Amino acid sequence: MSGELRIALIGAGGVNFGGAEGPWDHASRLEQVGGVVVVGVADPDTKRAQRVLAARRAGPAGAMYASAAAFADFHEMLSAVRPEAVFIGVPPHAHGATQPPGDMELACAAAGVHMFLEKPLGSVPPEELAPVAEALAKAAEAGLVISVGYVFRYSRAVETMQRILDEAGGGVRAVIARYDCAYSEIRKTEWWDVRTSGGPIVEQATHFVDLSRLLGGEAELDSVQAVRIDPHSPAAELADMPVLTDGTRGDQTVPAEFRAPRTTAAVWRFESGAVGSLTHGTLLHGQKYESELEIWGDGLRMVLADPYGDCRLMVRRPHSERTETIPFGDDDPYLSEVQAFIHAVRSGDASGIRSPYADALRTYELTWAIRRASEGKCRH
Ligand SMILES: NC(=O)c1ccc[n+]([C@@H]2O[C@H](COP(=O)([O-])OP(=O)(O)OC[C@H]3O[C@@H](n4cnc5c(N)ncnc54)[C@H](O)[C@@H]3O)[C@@H](O)[C@H]2O)c1
Repeated sequence: MSGELRIALIGAGGVNFGGAEGPWDHASRLEQVGGVVVVGVADPDTKRAQRVLAARRAGPAGAMYASAAAFADFHEMLSAVRPEAVFIGVPPHAHGATQPPGDMELACAAAGVHMFLEKPLGSVPPEELAPVAEALAKAAEAGLVISVGYVFRYSRAVETMQRILDEAGGGVRAVIARYDCAYSEIRKTEWWDVRTSGGPIVEQATHFVDLSRLLGGEAELDSVQAVRIDPHSPAAELADMPVLTDGTRGDQTVPAEFRAPRTTAAVWRFESGAVGSLTHGTLLHGQKYESELEIWGDGLRMVLADPYGDCRLMVRRPHSERTETIPFGDDDPYLSEVQAFIHAVRSGDASGIRSPYADALRTYELTWAIRRASEGKCRH
C-alpha cells in the first residue's frame, strides 16, 4: 500500500475526537502518526460531526481533514468515500449488530475496510455476538486488520509487568483489580442504563478485566462469583448525581433493575489455579478516576497505579523487601495502539495487534460472567 491512507471515523464523540473526560482522542494520534487523510466522519449527530471537522481543519493538522465530509449514516459514508480503514467509536448499543443501524463491523468487513474498534464489543450478551464474531474471524483470516481498543495492552508499564513476570518465573498467584469511577460528571443518559451501556463492568472495568486475562491467563467462567449493591438498597443512593444531556438528573428515568450498579465485587479462579478479584465503584465526585491493578506472585508484588494519568508501577521483587516505584507518566499507549493499527494496515502484518477481536471476545465473556453473577443469574 502506498500514498496516504484513507481513514474514516464512525462516531464524532469523545474517544475519536477527545474531550474533557480523559486522554483519549484517536484523531490527534492519527495526526501524530502522519501519512493518513481523513475522508469522512459519520455520526447521526451531523452537527457534532461538522463541528469536530471544522475544529480540526482550523488546527495545526488542518490539511489532513481538507477533503473530509460529514455523514449521518456510515453505510452511505462507506460507499461515498471508500475508506481503507475506519475507527469505530460509538456507544456500546450502537454496534455489534447484524442489522442496520448497528451492523458497522459486518458492513466494514463486507467492504474490505480495516477496523479499529473501541471496547466493549457491544451491549448484548456474548452469545448474541456470535454471528458477528464468526464473520470477523473469517475476515481476519482473509487479511482484514481488526484491532480492539484495549489500550493498556500497549502501555509500557504493562509491558514491564509482563517482563518482570517472565523473569520471576513463578507465574501469577493473584490479581486484585480496583476501579472507582467518578460519576458526578457522567452526563450520557445511555451510560446510566445497563440496557444501552452493558453496565460499568462490561463498559468500563473491562479494561482491567482484560489486563487480568493478559497477565493472569484465562479465567474459569463457571468459577465467577459476584455481588453488587442492590439498586433498591439505601447504599445505592448517590448524593451528587449529574444533570444529564436530556435535562433529567442521574438515572431517575431508568427502572431500578436497569440502573448502573454503584459497586460490584467479584472473585474468580484462573485456569492456572490462581485467583482473581475485581471491585468496581461508581462513587467518586469530579472527573478523575482511581484505578489500580495489583499482581501477586511467589515473592513478587506489583501495583499498576493510575494508568490513565500519572501512571506508575510499584514492584517488590523476590528475595527483597524493597518496593521500587517506576514512573511511566510520559507514556502514551493511545498513540502506540494507533501506530500499531496503522502499521498493520500498511504492511499487511497484523502481528503487532495486541487485541484482535477473538481475544477481546474472551474479555467480553468474562465481563458478562461477572455482570450476570452480580445480578444473581448463572452464566447460561
Ligand atoms: N479505550 C478507551 O480508553 C475509551 C475511552 C473512551 C471511550 N471509549 C469507548 O468508546 C465508545 C464511544 O465512547 P465516546 O466517549 O466516544 O462516546 P460519545 O457519547 O462521546 O460519542 C459517541 C458518538 O457516537 C455517535 N453514534 C451513535 N450511533 C452512531 C451510529 N450508528 N453511527 C455513527 N455514530 C454514532 C453518537 O451520536 C456520539 O456522537 C464507547 O464504547 C466507550 O466505552 C473507550
